[in-house]
Amino acid sequence: MAKTVLITGATSGIGFETARQISEMGADVIGIGSSSSSCDKAFNRMLSYGCNVDFISCDLSDQQSIRDLAENIKKRFRELNVLINNAGVIYLKRKTDSLGIEKMFSVNYLSHYLLTRLLLESLVVGPSSRIINVSSVAHKGVRMDFDDLSSHHSYRVMNVYGKTKLAQLLFTKYLSEKIDSEKITINAMHPGIIPTNLISKNGILGSAITLAWKCLGKSTKDGAKTIVYLAVSEDVKNISGKYFIDCQPVELAPHATDAIAARTLWTKSAEMSSMPYELGF
Ligand SMILES: NC(=O)c1ccc[n+]([C@@H]2O[C@H](COP(=O)([O-])OP(=O)(O)OC[C@H]3O[C@@H](n4cnc5c(N)ncnc54)[C@H](OP(=O)(O)O)[C@@H]3O)[C@@H](O)[C@H]2O)c1
Repeated sequence: MAKTVLITGATSGIGFETARQISEMGADVIGIGSSSSSCDKAFNRMLSYGCNVDFISCDLSDQQSIRDLAENIKKRFRELNVLINNAGVIYLKRKTDSLGIEKMFSVNYLSHYLLTRLLLESLVVGPSSRIINVSSVAHKGVRMDFDDLSSHHSYRVMNVYGKTKLAQLLFTKYLSEKIDSEKITINAMHPGIIPTNLISKNGILGSAITLAWKCLGKSTKDGAKTIVYLAVSEDVKNISGKYFIDCQPVELAPHATDAIAARTLWTKSAEMSSMPYELGF
């Protein structure tokens, strides 16, 4: 598999397992983690599996860090074939990023909007590239609040988290309709409910919840399955704008494919990340 694959959130959980499997298939894998220490640990853990993944640290809650990452990738790699927007976090208490934007929205969604846009010119070089957005069934019961994307007025954790995952779906829809699927496909997926470190960044309470959660049976291998399928399978070569669970396309409810919401989110995201509205390539 002569491909260059970038995956965010590759230091832990579902992303680590995905990076490991894709690396074993022979791809050049670039894994992103939030700090050099998490990247170093993941690099060594990956070596213990016999995999050489190139880890780069980038704090996805810092837009300058994302811009530096994109420049670094463009300098080092002639083309990018697969971009997996996987990093995610749950904060039990409201936090903000370096620009004052609520941090779950920033890390789970806005960072990936910006990174994807900055890397589109590298993705379009190859014959047919793929973008995979890791969403969640948590999008189901929520609606976007475009007047309060930063959750100033209310912070109900799973509601805010769900909105970041709904945003991934609306982004998938908008971009898939703007880009020729012969050049780049964009799909979203839900990995299943998998015990990982997703809630661990919340002090002692986060560690306790994580410990209890890890007693559940599902493995990160289960979580990685559909991402790996979307990254490599010939079955989905020209499929774009879909949402997958267990390697199968699943119909989304109207609120997750709403064209007006998708366009509004695109415009607001461009403003929040100082990007032009137009794709420009
Ligand atoms: N687990 C589930 O049941 C489940 C269900 C549905 C969807 N998902 C989605 O699956 C994806 C992977 O999550 P996971 O469950 O595998 O959780 P995880 O084990 O906690 O992995 C999360 C990854 O995101 C990275 N990350 C967090 N904050 C970051 C930041 N500011 N900058 C850069 N990277 C950051 C972490 O990097 P560091 O460790 O280096 O900080 C880590 O590699 C997420 O998008 C999550 O929403 C998970």
